[in-house]
Amino acid sequence: MIFLGLNIDHCAIVRQARYREVPAGAEPAVEPDPVILAVQAERAGADGITVHLREDRRHIIDRDVTRVRESIATRLNLEMACTDEMAAIAAELRPDSVCLVPENRAEITTEGGLDVVGQRDRVKAIIDRMGELGVVVSLFIDPDAPQIALAAELGAPCVELHTGAWANGFYRAEKRQFEFQRLWHGAEKAHQLGLTVNAGHGINYTNVTEIRTLPHLHECNIGHSIISRALFTGIDEAVAEMRVRLNG
Ligand code: PXP
Repeated sequence: MIFLGLNIDHCAIVRQARYREVPAGAEPAVEPDPVILAVQAERAGADGITVHLREDRRHIIDRDVTRVRESIATRLNLEMACTDEMAAIAAELRPDSVCLVPENRAEITTEGGLDVVGQRDRVKAIIDRMGELGVVVSLFIDPDAPQIALAAELGAPCVELHTGAWANGFYRAEKRQFEFQRLWHGAEKAHQLGLTVNAGHGINYTNVTEIRTLPHLHECNIGHSIISRALFTGIDEAVAEMRVRLNG
């Protein structure tokens, strides 16, 4: 079975379009509340909830993160940049896992994943610190052999393969095949090195039927397509349908 992690950032994006300041206690009158969405989504079958606390707090804000930690019954995955500020927040919050993601150009490889090779010491420091706290660390990386090899060497237990290039090329046969092969080899290599293999970015109700055929896939983290579908069907049906498609 492939697990479904729901990324709720896009719910917070809609809220922030109208309410930049959310006074403590004003939730859930301020709509849409990503925490209510998270609770309902896990009742509908989501296996975990992901939030990305960005350094500029452009969608998820600190209070969302603490509220979601207190409210959900499944797993909390905190996406964060490799900074001391974020490491301190994670140490306080104790999510079940953190996924290290790039937030500025210098941290990004050509396709958009975290450049582990270019900043190995910083990444290693966070892997070690989270490891001591019992928080699982995942690295959001492109399916490139050197990045995957270094993730394993530095002791990360898990990688999330960046599926954005494949998703963007999905309707161009050659590009799609090329990018899918990269993901395939990346998943095989990561598995051989003992890494748990997750995938995310740009996965939707159509392309999920291909991504689910990747070998060794443990979990997909999906946000935009599920939140978009929920506008029409509600979150319960949107989550349930994706769960079915993910597992064929
Ligand atoms: N995984 C990671 C690391 C992400 O940063 C995101 C969102 O940008 C996702 C998965 C979900 O992507 P999407 O919203 O396109 O499903």
